[in-house]
Amino acid sequence: MMLSQTLAVIGFISTSFLTIRFLRSIYLYARPSSIKRYLHGADAWALVTGASDGIGRTFSHELAQNGFNVVLHGRNLTKLGTIKAQLQNQFPNVEFHVLVADASSTSHQQIDELVATLNDIHLTVLINNVGAAIKVAPLEDTTSEEIDAIINTNARFPTQLTKALLSKLTQTSSPNLIMNIGSMGDFCVPYATIYGGSKGFNMTWSSTLAMELKSEGKNVEVLAISLGRVTDVSHNKKKASFFTPSARTMARAALQRVGCGKPVVVGYVGHAVQEFFCRASAV
Ligand SMILES: NC(=O)c1ccc[n+]([C@@H]2O[C@H](COP(=O)([O-])OP(=O)(O)OC[C@H]3O[C@@H](n4cnc5c(N)ncnc54)[C@H](OP(=O)(O)O)[C@@H]3O)[C@@H](O)[C@H]2O)c1
Ligand SMILES: *[C@@H]1O[C@H](CO)[C@@H](O)[C@H](O)[C@H]1NC(C)=O
Ligand SMILES: *[C@@H]1O[C@H](CO)[C@@H](O)[C@H](O)[C@H]1NC(C)=O
Repeated sequence: MMLSQTLAVIGFISTSFLTIRFLRSIYLYARPSSIKRYLHGADAWALVTGASDGIGRTFSHELAQNGFNVVLHGRNLTKLGTIKAQLQNQFPNVEFHVLVADASSTSHQQIDELVATLNDIHLTVLINNVGAAIKVAPLEDTTSEEIDAIINTNARFPTQLTKALLSKLTQTSSPNLIMNIGSMGDFCVPYATIYGGSKGFNMTWSSTLAMELKSEGKNVEVLAISLGRVTDVSHNKKKASFFTPSARTMARAALQRVGCGKPVVVGYVGHAVQEFFCRASAV
C-alpha cells in the first residue's frame, strides 16, 4: 500500500474514533436522568450529607421536588432547622428529618448510633456531599489538626457512613443509589495537597465500590461526580457563569447524570470543557 493510502486509513480511523467520542459525550449530557428509578416503594427516602448549605442544600430541594423524603445531615442544628422549615413549607407532602454529626470528628461508633436512628425509613438514595472547603497552603503551613479534619471530612466520614448504611442499601433487589461528590481539585490545584489527596481517595474508593457491588450482583448504582468551581455556596456568592454554575444548576446536573453507566463523571458540562483543557495542558 502507498504511504498516502496508509495515512488516509489512519486519518479515517482516528476521525471516526474522535467523532464517536464526541457523540458519546453529547449523549452523556443530553440523556434523561434515571433518578425516578429510585422512587420505589411507598415512601422513598434520600440522605444528603452537608445539606445545610451550598450544593447539598440544593440537592435536598431537587430530591424533594422529585418526590423523595429527605434526611438532611449537617453539623449545625439551628441552620438545619431553618432549612428544614423552609423545605417543609415548599413541599408540604414530603417528610424531612434532621441528622446532626460533625464529619471532622464523629467516631464510627457514633456513626453507627446515628444510622440506627434511620432503621425504620426506606432509604434508596445516599448522597455523600459533605466536604471540607478547599485549603490552598503548602503542607508545612497546614496544622496537624487541619490535616486530620480535612481527611476526616472528605474521606473517613463518607466511607464510614456508607459502610454503616450499606446493608440497608443492598438488602433488597430494588435498585438503590450512592452518589459521591468529588472535586476536580484532585488533579488540578497545586498547594492543595491534603484536599486534593482526600478527594482522590474519594474518587478511587467510589469506583472500586461500584465494581465490588456489581460483581456481587447488588442492584446499587455507585456514581462519583467530579466538579469544578460552583457559586451560591457558603464561600462563594459571585454571579453564576458557564464555567461556574450556581449550586442549583450543579445539583440538577449531577442528578441528571444518574443512570449514565459510568463510575465517575464530570457532572456539569461547563466543568467537562474545563477538565478537557486542564488535562490536555497537563501532559
Ligand atoms: N463550591 C465549589 O466550588 C466546589 C468545588 C469542588 C467540589 N466541591 C464539593 O462540593 C461539596 C459541597 O460543597 P459546597 O460548595 O456546597 O460547600 P458549602 O456551601 O460550604 O456547604 C457545605 C455543607 O457541608 C457542611 N459541612 C462542612 N463541614 C462539615 C463538617 N465537618 N461536619 C458536618 N457538616 C459539614 C456544611 O455545614 P455548615 O452549613 O454548618 O457549614 C454545609 O452544609 C463538597 O464536597 C465540596 O468539596 C465544591
Ligand atoms: C449555626 O447556624 C446559626 C444560624 O445560621 C449561626 O448563627 C451560628 O453561628 C451557627 N453555629 C455555629 C457553631 O457555627
Ligand atoms: C468524597 O468527598 C466529597 C467531598 O468532600 C464528599 O462529599 C464525599 O462524601 C466523599 N465521598 C467518598 C465516597 O468518600
